[in-house]
Amino acid sequence: MKIVIGNDHAGPSLKEVIKKHLENKGIEILDLGVKEGEKIDYPKIAEAVALKVKDKEADLGILICGTGIGVSISANKVKGIRAACVSEPYSAKLSREHNDANILCFGARVVGEELAKMIVDEFINASFLGDRHLRRVEMITDIEKRG
Ligand code: RB5
Repeated sequence: MKIVIGNDHAGPSLKEVIKKHLENKGIEILDLGVKEGEKIDYPKIAEAVALKVKDKEADLGILICGTGIGVSISANKVKGIRAACVSEPYSAKLSREHNDANILCFGARVVGEELAKMIVDEFINASFLGDRHLRRVEMITDIEKRG
């Protein structure tokens, strides 16, 4: 599995924790985020990560900003992206199973390191359940086309 990860200036420290956590599991990471001391406006990093997922250069994406909200709103503007802003593991799992989310977003000022690892684990270990959920996800795509 390959994961593209990105963060603005609110998230370098948590990004490093998550990166190490995933690399220890043998997951390949493409890191587009900024380092400690650097600054970037969150829409830029969200778009960069979203395009990698859209272009299938990564299986899933992870975005970290202060709250997770700015990056999720931005990433969801890219066609084919379903970015879920999550602050606990249950929603992370369901975002994959029911919504086929392809980017996980959370806030470095909202979740601690251990909770963030649990959120990430639920997200990457879950799979889309299809069936009635597929019909609903297709309805989301239809909104995107109409918009
Ligand atoms: C940056 O200070 C902050 O606004 C950003 O990280 C994010 O929380 C926006 O949604």
